[in-house]
Amino acid sequence: MRTILYTGKGGVGKTTVCAATGIRCAELGKRTVVVSTDTAHSLSDSFDVELHDEPTKITENLWAMEVNPIEELKKNWGAIQDYFMTFLRAQGVEGMEAEEFILFPGMEELFSLMRLKEFDESGRFDVVLVDCAPTAGTLQFLTFPDVIEWYMEHLFDIERKAAKVLRPVTKHVGIPLPEDSVFDSLEDVYEQVRAFASILKDPSRTTIRFVLNPEKMVIKETHRFYSYLSLYGLTVDAAIVNRVIPPEEAREGYFSKWVRLQQEYLRLIEESFSPLPIFKVKLFEREMVGIEMLKRLAGELYGDVDPTGVLHTEPQFTVSSSDGTYTLRMHLPFVTKERVELFQRGEELVVVVGTYKRIIALPTTLAGRRATKSTLKDGILDITFVEG
Ligand SMILES: Nc1ncnc2c1ncn2[C@@H]1O[C@H](COP(=O)(O)OP(=O)(O)OP(=O)(O)O)[C@@H](O)[C@H]1O
Ligand SMILES: [Mg+2]
Repeated sequence: MRTILYTGKGGVGKTTVCAATGIRCAELGKRTVVVSTDTAHSLSDSFDVELHDEPTKITENLWAMEVNPIEELKKNWGAIQDYFMTFLRAQGVEGMEAEEFILFPGMEELFSLMRLKEFDESGRFDVVLVDCAPTAGTLQFLTFPDVIEWYMEHLFDIERKAAKVLRPVTKHVGIPLPEDSVFDSLEDVYEQVRAFASILKDPSRTTIRFVLNPEKMVIKETHRFYSYLSLYGLTVDAAIVNRVIPPEEAREGYFSKWVRLQQEYLRLIEESFSPLPIFKVKLFEREMVGIEMLKRLAGELYGDVDPTGVLHTEPQFTVSSSDGTYTLRMHLPFVTKERVELFQRGEELVVVVGTYKRIIALPTTLAGRRATKSTLKDGILDITFVEG
């Protein structure tokens, strides 16, 4: 199953591009489902068809659905939510609903995306296209496996044993301690997230596509998001520049300045995202809603390109060696030296970029070695390892 995630800043045209791509994939004979995980769903408006949290057939080979994050949260996180609610009530905290209880950023989106696992297991679809929430909130859960992994390895058993011992005591003072079902539930979620993260990080199965507009703030945000995705080992295989004003249509008059500005930003996009394939879509003369309009947009967007292909691959990191010195190379586009910090902790390498932190389990060839120096140039981070 091929999964493609369409992400971008708010309002750039993600839903429209994703829906149009669905139509093209279906025309190519692929069983395709377009899934919206954005809580502010607008996929049904785009297709002009009412959608639910199960796939609804749109045309031959094409289905679409809008995931209900609250339901997914309950399904996956119910026992844990219940525990925290009991805990909070025991502390005298009232008036909070279980659904409002979020443990880590992006949790709702994660559980919505978990629906993809079902499709993967059932073999029902060849292609899954995901219409994501705006970048500010998208894929934040990627930090979660790292955090929870550490927690599971270092604290989990201790806490579980401590809970067993303390439960009879704390009962009397009215503070509930988690039952084993809470720990089981947490373990379960962790296993699922790990399995799912490995699907997300496998470029032969999952890639991300940026949707953006030729505007400064949109480009900047996309740059930041690209660094973040690279840090977490996800593969971006294309950028789609939407709402390009056709220069021949607006050489003079009110929009002529916009045209010049956009052309400048288009150059910046070409330069800064290269060698990523870049697709352009013009600003149409009307809203692009409904099957016919989306078909038109898909034609302009992809031409003869098959959107189900992996359009660009770049491995997360590579290891090379010469004369007993090993170098781990990582692509971190748009990151400057001041923003990167590195720590080695035994077999783990901790990379901190701005506010993001990633713990990388070192490949076995490097695990016994010591990182001695690092250089960052043109978005490529090289870390040198020597015999420990
Ligand atoms: N190339 C285009 N030409 C004309 N109209 C467009 C184009 N692309 C998108 N639109 C219109 O712009 C509006 C917003 O697009 P869309 O809903 O796809 O953006 P979005 O990025 O999904 O927004 P949100 O972040 O709110 O989810 C829609 O009405 C859509 O029809
Ligand atoms: Mg949208």
